[in-house]
Amino acid sequence: MPRTAGRHFLQIPGPTNVPDRVLRAIDFPTMDHRGPDFGELGKAVLAGMKRVFKSTKGEVVIYPASGTGAWEAALVNTLSPGDRVLMAETGHFATLWQKMAAKLGLGVEFLPTDWRHGADPEAIDAAGHPALYMVDTISSLASIDYRHDEWGVDVTVAGSQKGLMLPPGLSFNCISPKALSASKSARLPRSYWAWDEMIANGKTGYFPYTPATNLLYGLRESLTMLLDEEGLDAVFARHQRHAEATRRAVRAWGLEVLALDPREYSASLTAVLVPAGHDADRVRKIILEAFDMSLGTGLGKLGGKVFRIGHLGDFNDLALMGTLAGVEMGLTLASVPVKREGVRAAMEYLSDCAKAPARRAA
Ligand SMILES: Cc1ncc(COP(=O)(O)O)c(C=O)c1O
Repeated sequence: MPRTAGRHFLQIPGPTNVPDRVLRAIDFPTMDHRGPDFGELGKAVLAGMKRVFKSTKGEVVIYPASGTGAWEAALVNTLSPGDRVLMAETGHFATLWQKMAAKLGLGVEFLPTDWRHGADPEAIDAAGHPALYMVDTISSLASIDYRHDEWGVDVTVAGSQKGLMLPPGLSFNCISPKALSASKSARLPRSYWAWDEMIANGKTGYFPYTPATNLLYGLRESLTMLLDEEGLDAVFARHQRHAEATRRAVRAWGLEVLALDPREYSASLTAVLVPAGHDADRVRKIILEAFDMSLGTGLGKLGGKVFRIGHLGDFNDLALMGTLAGVEMGLTLASVPVKREGVRAAMEYLSDCAKAPARRAA
């Protein structure tokens, strides 16, 4: 393969770009996970994750697994065969979690949407049931404000490879007292995912089986960056700013953002509809080949219809401008009819934000 100079632009909505500092933290001799030093690392990352879940008083467990594992953990620890679950069809991953629930022998009621809307809180409230409330934050934790305790969530599911700026391979459950008590009587079979041993070992910073030691070094570093150096509120504001700049670019191109309700816009990614007669995957291929940038593909029934711009994780204004320039050039190369105004619209917005006193003070 001929060498491609410069950095690849990894602008898929996760895995995201891993900061050099985190890579260096991971690149360290693996320690004895049952030795005396490991417990300090384990306690530090568990305490840091509790702060990311907004100082939860609940329990946090860390799995050496992708996000899908933490989905399974949430279900098998709390439910029994035949239990009914109400899920909302917000898109591809909601559909996969629903399929998993059905495979596990749960009775799923799936609230349909057109994939252009989020979950409808009123329809869920209408169930009027004291059910356990579970939330998938895999693509939003540490990018968008999220409060496990304050919002009454019972199980939060999260993953390492997005806002937490780590490679894939770690996933999380944050567990309320109500969910923990449900786990005592839940009868779905579980072993690897069982919370009880994870929580008991976690008290001293250890794990019942071999943890992903080097990823935990990385997690300790990324938590320092997010919590102590940048601060979560600044992280959230940065993601909002980049999302708004991206949407302005999309509109200035004359294209449409997939999400229809501004209250449901994501600050971590923007899905862009390509006009009928054009193939979003062809646009992505052209951009990859011409400009060495990866964009997210449309998943499931959105295949070929949208491309997704990831603007989450370790990202700044100029990286976003490079991303949007690559998209604008790629759309033109792919002969998608767009106005070449998107980059300019985003740049104007980012310049205005940079002038704002709140940002200068920060
Ligand atoms: C919202 C959401 N849920 C679940 C998943 C699945 O996670 P994983 O691929 O880490 O198993 C993803 C992955 O992108 C996701 O974005």
